[in-house]
Amino acid sequence: MDIASRPSEPVADPQLAGAAPPPLAPPVIRREDYQPPAWLVPEIALDFTLGVDATRVVSRLTVRRNPHGDGAALRLNGDNIAPLGVKVDGVAVNDWRLDGADLLIDLAGDAHAVEVETAVNPAANSQLMGLYASNGMLCTQCEAEGFRRITFFPDRPDVLSTYRVRMAGDKAAFPILLSNGNCVAQGDDADGTHWAEWHDPWPKPCYLFALVAGDLVANHDSFTTMSGRKVDLNIWVRPGDEARTHHAMASLKAAMRWDEETFGREYDLDLFNIVAVSDFNMGAMENKGLNVFNTRYVLADPETATDADYDAVEGVIGHEYFHNWSGNRVTCRDWFQLSLKEGFTVLRDQLFSADMGSEAVKRIEDVRVLRSAQFPEDSGPLAHPIRPDSYQEISNFYTATVYNKGAEVIRMMRTMAGPERFRQGTDLYFARHDGEAATCEDFVKAIEDGSGLDLGRFRLWYGQAGTPQVKVALTHAGTTATLALSQAVPVTPGQPEKQPMPIPLRVALFDRESGRHGGERLIVLDKASDSFTFDGFSAPPVLSINRGFSAPVSIEADRSNADLVFLAAHDDDPFARYEAMQSLVVRHLVAAVGGGLSPDDRAAGRAAIGEAFAAFLADGALDDLMRGELMILPSETYLAEQLLVADPGAIHAEREALKAWLGHALQAALIALHDRASAVPYSRDAAARGARKLKTQALIYLAAGAPEEAARRAIAQYRAADNMTDRQGALMVLCGLAVPEREEALADFHARYHGNALVIDKWFSLQAGSLHPQVLDHVQALAGHPDFTMHNPNRVRALYMAFAVNPKGFHVADGEGYRIIGDLIRRLDPINPQTAARFVPPLGRWRRIEPGRSAMMRAELERIAAAPSLSRDVLEQVTKSLG
Ligand code: ARG
Ligand code: ZN
Repeated sequence: MDIASRPSEPVADPQLAGAAPPPLAPPVIRREDYQPPAWLVPEIALDFTLGVDATRVVSRLTVRRNPHGDGAALRLNGDNIAPLGVKVDGVAVNDWRLDGADLLIDLAGDAHAVEVETAVNPAANSQLMGLYASNGMLCTQCEAEGFRRITFFPDRPDVLSTYRVRMAGDKAAFPILLSNGNCVAQGDDADGTHWAEWHDPWPKPCYLFALVAGDLVANHDSFTTMSGRKVDLNIWVRPGDEARTHHAMASLKAAMRWDEETFGREYDLDLFNIVAVSDFNMGAMENKGLNVFNTRYVLADPETATDADYDAVEGVIGHEYFHNWSGNRVTCRDWFQLSLKEGFTVLRDQLFSADMGSEAVKRIEDVRVLRSAQFPEDSGPLAHPIRPDSYQEISNFYTATVYNKGAEVIRMMRTMAGPERFRQGTDLYFARHDGEAATCEDFVKAIEDGSGLDLGRFRLWYGQAGTPQVKVALTHAGTTATLALSQAVPVTPGQPEKQPMPIPLRVALFDRESGRHGGERLIVLDKASDSFTFDGFSAPPVLSINRGFSAPVSIEADRSNADLVFLAAHDDDPFARYEAMQSLVVRHLVAAVGGGLSPDDRAAGRAAIGEAFAAFLADGALDDLMRGELMILPSETYLAEQLLVADPGAIHAEREALKAWLGHALQAALIALHDRASAVPYSRDAAARGARKLKTQALIYLAAGAPEEAARRAIAQYRAADNMTDRQGALMVLCGLAVPEREEALADFHARYHGNALVIDKWFSLQAGSLHPQVLDHVQALAGHPDFTMHNPNRVRALYMAFAVNPKGFHVADGEGYRIIGDLIRRLDPINPQTAARFVPPLGRWRRIEPGRSAMMRAELERIAAAPSLSRDVLEQVTKSLG
């Protein structure tokens, strides 16, 4: 731990003093208990004396009593640090006290200068929160509550300060010294050290503070803003990685231009730095003027990054950049408002990526993420509203609900207002709250006032958890079609009763003969049930509903296979087309898993799916990226969601059987597709990316239906690959087959890329996520591989998250998959609790799994709960999952 190496110094946290503490339930923090801060900190000056094993921090605060506060003592939060000296108005004082890990100072007046000295050990900081070392470089991660691991401070987002940062350190070890804002002075000292001073003119909460010191090289560029200011741009990486930063730089410049054009937001400093770090808990961090990124969202070149990796870089670069306004200029009042910045910023990055590529494909991908990550969260023991009411550890609330459902909720406002009026709302939001720490309610009010929309009942989306279930029935009489809708929001933990919410649904009714509709309508279901009529239909039309996935709900509509095949072929809304295909497959597989499918029904279901499949494989009007999307079957997690109690083994078997049937029935078409796509040379344009997507999709079906043909083609694709998309796709398919080519390709891949951490991560993931019958043995062996380490979150996720989301391995019938994840959680928790806690939700699904596996999952959670000392992070997730 950070301060264990300085035993002579006072210990702030009694847990570090030796004796194991009793397993106390962590305190519950409630949204309704919010109180304004007692003290404000308009200015802070930080002075760092840098060292990998010991860094000294002197912090000088200008504090002012908040007239809206409660007059209490100055509370400075701390975590795993000790005060080495405290001064008030320049004089050393002793009358401070510790309350738990916090430092309390009684102050007589209304304005004071407070100075506190601390020391930390970055090399020992395996949690990667606060100041830590990564490959000899020093960097920080402060969101949500990491700043208190560096120095004592009111660590809450509604305390905004201007920062002056000085750092000094060995010039050879740390040639580059970075912090937020602008570098205002730097110099060398005679003893081989150097120093730099940074000043950030924009007041910010401490979670946006950042410092980086290390041996880094930059890709330099510049951007001229809409008002003609030139901004220097740097992407800092380890020497040798420069050539892999060009896509990130292009993405950054595109994001800056896009935010000006789409949201009217201009960058507000003369310098923008991005640093890539290999040890990072999350994706990236929007620190003011100094974004810190997981290397996986910066580095990309055709040899080492797939097309999906390129898209992820563009999306995350955009996301963090967009936070400069949605997050930094307007920040959150408290962490319950996290979706204020995250939901809005995810929506902004989704719209950006849609504009940079294919809007249709992007929408489908976003919905797929929502359904496979957020829907299960919303229907499980960890369900929470996008604005939670309470938490124990805030790191556990950086969730698909807060991020992705949060984005969907704001997208619904945009759908109802239309893009122009929505923009008037966001303009008002930024104007009204610039420089402030705002709430979700402030956002809704600004959209309401700026767009003219009435969002009265719509606010329920912020407070109610659970995915609304919408039942749909279409009837026809005379020339009128009537759509009857009803909604129910399921019960979730702590929320036994729910109100109906406004649900905007884009609807079109197709004429069966012409294959066309007479115009789309936006209807809003804002009651428990309602009906809507449509005139001018001499025959029953075909219903296309929730087009574009206009609302994050699940739709239960009684539509015939024929209607779904019709929509899969004719719908002019690409999402609806995809959705028709998904519904066709979901219906078939759910019936098959339930055992309620007669041989005739099975044959009929397969025939309908095969017909739709063959139609879009041959459809010359479709682009290949979209064709590739349509080929992706609903995930096993999403299928399990459709069932009250799921048998993962049966779902897996039925889904694989369908893949095999399609691969066999459509073998000729798939081979032709693979041949056609393989002839397209590498480029980054949409046609070539589409071709690459098809190649791998074709191999996936062939692997199921014609494994020998697939193995032959996959190893040929692997050997001929001149890019990572083809190479990874081929290796992925080979990994699932028990063939000699598998070992050849895996050995070649490892030898070819050893030393390239991001690519070696792929090597771990492909094996852990495979369909191979011995996948468990592979995972156990990989855990002992010399390249495996518990200290690098990317590597841990590459092996274990890939495994935890691989239903074939995780849900193996004897429970060994659960044991592997349970053991991981127990071993990782003392090293990196934040990352360990991310592995609890897969086990937390036990209530929705068939009894045999359910009992083993539950038992595994109980084993974790019984561990002698658990982090707050894991304890909260395990307790809630069992509760
Ligand atoms: N704000 C970051 C983002 O853009 C996420 C940081 C979360 N950090 C954490 N330790 N939970 O999404
Ligand atoms: Zn974010």
